[in-house]
Amino acid sequence: MSENPVTAVTVTPANVSPEAGAPAAAAPAVPAPSTGSAVAAGPAAPAGAAASGGSRRSEPMFPDGTGPAADPAGSHHERRIRSFQPRRSRVSPSQADALRRLWPKWGLDIDGLSRIDLDAFFDGRPVVLEIGFGMGEATAQMAAADPDTGILGCDVHTPGQGNLLGLAERNGLSNIRVANGDAIILLREMLAPGSLAGLRVYFPDPWPKKRHHKRRLIQPEFLSLATTRLAPGALVHCATDWEPYAEQMLEVLSAEPTLENLYPSYAPRPEFRPLTKFEGQGLDKGHVVHDLLFRRRGD
Ligand SMILES: C[S@@+](CC[C@H](N)C(=O)[O-])C[C@H]1O[C@@H](n2cnc3c(N)ncnc32)[C@H](O)[C@@H]1O
Repeated sequence: MSENPVTAVTVTPANVSPEAGAPAAAAPAVPAPSTGSAVAAGPAAPAGAAASGGSRRSEPMFPDGTGPAADPAGSHHERRIRSFQPRRSRVSPSQADALRRLWPKWGLDIDGLSRIDLDAFFDGRPVVLEIGFGMGEATAQMAAADPDTGILGCDVHTPGQGNLLGLAERNGLSNIRVANGDAIILLREMLAPGSLAGLRVYFPDPWPKKRHHKRRLIQPEFLSLATTRLAPGALVHCATDWEPYAEQMLEVLSAEPTLENLYPSYAPRPEFRPLTKFEGQGLDKGHVVHDLLFRRRGD
């Protein structure tokens, strides 16, 4: 297995909180990239520049300096409304065990400090980014069904990170890597333009209240950033069981000039997408699920 190919990641040992189960969701908000210049910016500040402002980014989960950081991007990123909610949830013993053993080779903190060498991290496989894998069951199934594709799963949810790593190991999957932190920082600072073969966003938090709509992930600014990271022909696959969010997704994806819809409107559910945990909960409530499948146009 490759060494973790992110250079300049500094993890200092041992000043770890006893709250090993706290989710890594305390990263400060950063502004959505509003202009091409933000998107085009290369690696952010050099390692070490981030430590100002009371950053806790270097606190790892375990006292020996391993595990996902509590606050990987620290305070060196600007404030921004986030699409996720910091929450504390318990990490089970088996999730903690998976994090302790597997994080050093398959995990990556989104500190925003350097570009990831995806080729090295995924042993040369094409890489699809999945934002918000939750507990990771669907991610693991998709990885098993397509071992030649690498899946970079990104989430802030520590129990899910441990769960996905455990699933990968138990199922002998070598094509999954787990990124801890905010997907916006990952896309903006750590992934090279044109480096992704696909983007998956399954059942993102719907933020149903009107005053929270600005927290929804699928927004024009997000897409104009994310599409710069996609290779020509890359698939963008979204799914939601929240009708008003589905409408927003269709509108926003259709308006992004670098994308083309593979269907006249919503897509039929592709067979390759397994049922996800949140989807099951939505179906139990009688919600209708919509898939959207778009393709990055060639340049
Ligand atoms: C509603 S859950 C869906 C989980 C899973 N896809 C499923 O269908 O079961 C949404 C997930 O997205 C994650 N999330 C939301 N915004 C994120 C962001 N900006 N970066 C990383 N993860 C994010 C949340 O932590 C949460 O685990």
